[in-house]
Amino acid sequence: MAGVAVTDISGQVIQIGSEATAFKVGDKVVCRLGFAKSGGLAEYAVASETETALRPEEVSSVNAAGLPVAGLTALECLQMIGTKFDGTGKGANILITAASGGVGSYAVQLAKLGGHHVTATCGARNVDLVRSLGADEVLDYKTPEGQNLKTSSGKKYDYIINCAPAVPWKTLKSSLSNEGLVMEVAQPNFSILMAFIWGIFTFSKKKIKIIIVSLGNNDLQFLAELMREGRLKTVIDSKYPFDRAQEAWAKCVDGHATGKIIVEM
Ligand SMILES: NC(=O)c1ccc[n+]([C@@H]2O[C@H](COP(=O)([O-])OP(=O)(O)OC[C@H]3O[C@@H](n4cnc5c(N)ncnc54)[C@H](OP(=O)(O)O)[C@@H]3O)[C@@H](O)[C@H]2O)c1
Repeated sequence: MAGVAVTDISGQVIQIGSEATAFKVGDKVVCRLGFAKSGGLAEYAVASETETALRPEEVSSVNAAGLPVAGLTALECLQMIGTKFDGTGKGANILITAASGGVGSYAVQLAKLGGHHVTATCGARNVDLVRSLGADEVLDYKTPEGQNLKTSSGKKYDYIINCAPAVPWKTLKSSLSNEGLVMEVAQPNFSILMAFIWGIFTFSKKKIKIIIVSLGNNDLQFLAELMREGRLKTVIDSKYPFDRAQEAWAKCVDGHATGKIIVEM
């Protein structure tokens, strides 16, 4: 397990650093540890105040543990396109790929809270689940419609949150409205990287942004509050005891989880 970068944790404060003032011993918290430090797959972890949010009583440790990187990535995409979560925003037509994964499952819920029209892709086994998260239209990614990212209306998307691996740029581009934006959450493949670089040097109206999550603890607190209010939930793929963490990690990197995989200790 050496080198495993587990960054998302939920637990209880047991000790406070000499300069820390925002939390006290006993507080229930959820943290997004920095990638360079990580160290979340352990009974004890060190988190800075800026990585930490209070976990409301009503939110279980398991539900909170799924939230940090996946929830913040989804939120960052939706903030980037000016989504308002108080019902005052103007909805757009959005596609979310791999909506059954960690980022995608939060993104569908947040996009619906923001009043967007959501088309989502996932495997056949998860179509009902993704619909239950609020998606207006769901495409099975193994069908021709799902491969082409097209609904029967053929309407183009204003924004695509691409969480699925290996979707070619030409497929994304042909589904995008004239001034549309792809937010590339998954590791960009070659065609997407080329299109991204090409876009920097040309005046192409269809844009790509490569997303590297950067939101911090205030946004994590916002997500935890949405959970407390029952407006956001974590889809749990599976829970593993600490002594089976290796299996949990193997499942995580396999790319076929439905939501989040949680290790309990
Ligand atoms: N940019 C960032 O800051 C950031 C942050 C977090 C994650 N990521 C990246 O984002 C990607 C998604 O990660 P994740 O943890 O949310 O999800 P994940 O665990 O990789 O997603 C798994 C789910 O995606 C479905 N899926 C796989 N291929 C698909 C396809 N071509 N079309 C539609 N659905 C598909 C799978 O369904 P089946 O099992 O039915 O195949 C499964 O339910 C990963 O590449 C991850 O590294 C980036």
